[in-house]
Parts: sequence; C-alpha cells; structure tokens
Amino acid sequence: MATTDWWRSAVIYQVYPRSFADSTCDGIGDLGGVIDHLDHLGELGVDAVWLSPFYPSPQNDGGYDVADYRDVDPLFGDLDQFDRLVAKAHEAGLRVIIDIVPNHTSSEHAWFQEALRASPGSPERSRYIIRDVPVNNWGSVFGGPAWSRMADRGADDDQWYLHLFDATQPDLDWTNHEVRDAFLSILRFWLDRDVDGFRVDVAHGLVKDLDAPDVTRHDADVDAETRRPMWDQDGVHEIYREWRKVLDDYDDRMMVAEAWVLDSERVALYVRPDEFHQTFNFEFLTARWDAGDLRKVIDDTIRSTVGVGAPMTWVLSNHDVIRHATRLALPPGQERRNGLGPKHPQPDADLGLRRARAATLLMLALPGSAYLYQGEELGLPEHTTLPPEARQDPTFERTDGEELGRDGCRVPLPWQADEPGYGFGPTEKTWLPQPDSFAAHAVDVQSSDPESTLSMYRNALAVRKEHDLGTGELEWLRTENEVLSFRNGSITVVANAGERPLSLPDYGEVIIASRAVSSEVPPDTTVWIRHGQSQ
Ligand code: GLC
Repeated sequence: MATTDWWRSAVIYQVYPRSFADSTCDGIGDLGGVIDHLDHLGELGVDAVWLSPFYPSPQNDGGYDVADYRDVDPLFGDLDQFDRLVAKAHEAGLRVIIDIVPNHTSSEHAWFQEALRASPGSPERSRYIIRDVPVNNWGSVFGGPAWSRMADRGADDDQWYLHLFDATQPDLDWTNHEVRDAFLSILRFWLDRDVDGFRVDVAHGLVKDLDAPDVTRHDADVDAETRRPMWDQDGVHEIYREWRKVLDDYDDRMMVAEAWVLDSERVALYVRPDEFHQTFNFEFLTARWDAGDLRKVIDDTIRSTVGVGAPMTWVLSNHDVIRHATRLALPPGQERRNGLGPKHPQPDADLGLRRARAATLLMLALPGSAYLYQGEELGLPEHTTLPPEARQDPTFERTDGEELGRDGCRVPLPWQADEPGYGFGPTEKTWLPQPDSFAAHAVDVQSSDPESTLSMYRNALAVRKEHDLGTGELEWLRTENEVLSFRNGSITVVANAGERPLSLPDYGEVIIASRAVSSEVPPDTTVWIRHGQSQ
C-alpha cells in the first residue's frame, strides 16, 4: 500500500456491522459477514472500510453505548476475528478505520457500575457528570430530558447524571485526567492491532459549559446549527491535540471527526495541522439538490479546508440520516436528521433514486476524500414503513413516536434477490424487516446489469482512480440555471439540478452518466465528460 497521506483522496466505505451481512444465523450482521464480503468492497473499488462500533454493548444505541472499549461483542465475533478482518482487508489493499465513542460510555461499563456503587463525591463518580440536582435544563438528542437519577440505574442516593443521548449512555467528564489517559491508552490498544484510523463519535461534544444559562427548548438537538453550551466548545481542541500526538507515533494513521458543526469556519478548527486529519462535511450532506446551494457548500468547503491544509471531504449518507435516495426527493425543510416523522408523505422513489445517482456522481468527481454508507451503492431507499414494534432506535420511544428514528437507514442489506432475507445471512432472519422493494436492489441483480446503480458506482470509482480525481483541482465552468459544471483534470462534470433538459456541451466523450443522455442532459442528471485530445 502507498504510504503517504492516503486519506486525503480515499473513498471510505462505512460498514454498520449489524446490518451488513450475517454469518452466524442469528439475523444480526457480524465481523464474519464483513470478512465474507470483502470482495464486494474490492470490486466496488473503495480504499478503506470504516466499521461502526462492534464493542461489547447492551446495544441500546446500536453499539454506540460501549461497555468495554478493548473487546468485541460476542454478537459480532471476537478479537481474533477482528485481527483476521484487519489482516484480510490489508491483503486486499483496504485500510480499516474503527469508531471510537468518547463522549459517553454505556451504563453497563465497569466505570459507571462502580459509580453507581460509590458514594457522592467519590473518585468513581468524578469520571461522569454527576450532580446533586440537574444544573441546567438540557434535553437529550434522542428526546426527553438529559438528566436522570442515579437511583434509576440502581444507586441508593439522590444524585443525577447527564446523558446527552439515551439514559443508558452517561456522559464522561473530560475534565478528569483519568478519563483522558484511559482514552489515550485505548487508542494505542487498537493502533497496536493495526487499525489505520479512527472515526471519533460526537467529537464536538466532549467539553460542556454546564453553568451556561438555560437553553430554549430545542437547543439540545444536534440539528441546531449554532454553538450551544454542550457542543463545539473551544476546550475540545486540546483533547484532540493529545490524541494526534499518539497517532503520530505510528505510520500513516488518521482520525476523522464526527462534529455536527455546520459553520465551515468552526469546522476548520478541527482540522488544524495538529488535530484531526479530516472531518465529515455535514454542510454538504444537508445541502438540498439545488445548484446554488451545492455551489455555495463546495466553495465554503474549499475555502475553509484549503486554508488549513486539510483535505476536503464529502458525504451524502450515513447510519444517522435519511438515505439520500429518499432524502433528496423530500420537500424542502423535511430532511430531518433523525429519520422521517410519521406525518411525512411518502416520497417519490424514482425521483429520489435519480437525484441520488446524480448527487453521487457529482460527489465522486470532487477532489478530496469521499465517504460512502453501505447500501448506497445499491441505491437503497430509506425503509419508511417499518412497523412500530420493529423499531429499535431509542429516538422512537423517547419521542413517543413523534420521530421515527434512524432504523429506516439501517435495514439489513440485500445480497441475493432469490434467497430468504435476500441473502443477508444463511437463514431468513433479519433483525429489522426488509421491504419487498429490496429484491430489485440486491447485489446479484445489479452486478450483471450495466445500467444499475452498483455498476455506476463501480465505473465512477474506477474512473476516479484512473484520472486521479481525488488529488485533482476543481475549476468551475458555469453555474447558471440550476446547472453545476466544473473541470477536474481531464474530466468535466455537468450536473443538471433543474427542471429543464440542458443541451449536452461539446467538451468530449460522455464516459459516465447517472441517467441515459442523448444530445441533452435531462433534469436530475450528472455526466462525466472526458476531454478530447485537443482540450
Ligand atoms: C453519533 C452516532 C450515532 C449515535 C450518537 C451517540 O452521532 O453516529 O449513531 O447515536 O453519536 O453515540
């Protein structure tokens, strides 16, 4: 593998292990399933895999409630299997990034269990944010209050603990040096097992201004765009400077911040040369399918990252948001992060897929690095009609069903159209039910169809590599009438985000199109054009 700054132009594929592939017949995906399907990632042409959490956990928040940071949950496998996965991925030329969850532990973590048994004021309690009374009115991102009683979890006193997420995810106190030191050693534990990097969960949340004036009702929601006393406090940066020193002791390792901060100037602070290597570009993810909006985000991104020497990154989907094949067909203002509300009208699936394919082709031609979420290469839609009894995201329960939550983007993948459970595992079992529409999206159906979304992703990734688009430079050609057009090296991209067809510019040969083009580029379509010799 090449050894210099590989992440700057990498395409990184997110695996949400419980929904990727099941190898053990329990209906839940696992590390064995990932190993079995590494060839899919090889054929797709990505450079790295990011694994969402696989640690021991009560799984109240899909494993983002970690009970032990140095092991693998038996649900997913064991440490030996993890080592095999890393070795096999490396043999196949794929890097491996894992998720680290430092804002909170599970309430099952040994530390919180010790805190429950210890008395107020004890060192065991000082690892968490525990007070005699709630010191502010913050709410949980998943709904309901962010303060719960220690007694609710079994303590026999009246203190309260803070949890910005579920009540089983108590927030750690990052002013405590024991907490800081523990995470430095957890990083080393996994770096020594040869992981290539970390995706840092809720990276903007570790430091809180607990004494700030009370917030207004929805302020605790991560959808809020500005700085809040629980998010993006300046104190987080010194933590990551320490982390960066640890990573720099090893060759070629990287870390990427999940920081839901939409102000690009603030985001840039996370990627200063001695902090993160990159952050997710949520401004891009939350942009509408609109030429003006997209151009603004792309320009903001260029300005804010180039200034600090960081690579640009791009992302359209992940395990927390409505899949972009559905989101991009929603009326403006309804693109909720935590899933659709029950009152949403059913979006137009064809329109969604057309726009998703167009948005993806736009993204994959941009210089920098791109993140893909499992299933988007199949054009999977959000599963919008899961029955209430199947839902598992704590958001659903904590908002009394007001928000459906994120289960709809976490449905087990379809691999084979004619197999039970669409080939997710050896049996028909799947931890969330799959919609009938998944048959047409299955990997085996799409592999043999040159027009499929999977074929489009494979072709685009191959051309991206061949023409070094990831390390290229963007030059705008025209952006008017809902059209985005830019040149990146020998490729020109034209994206028609408007409602009228556009005559195909005469730059050269169309080598990839998100939808068939003739002399015109239809609405909701992106094309890549290779320049003729004269260009
Ligand atoms: C991040 C994760 C999300 C999780 C939350 C709490 O936003 O991506 O899935 O629920 O953090 O850990």
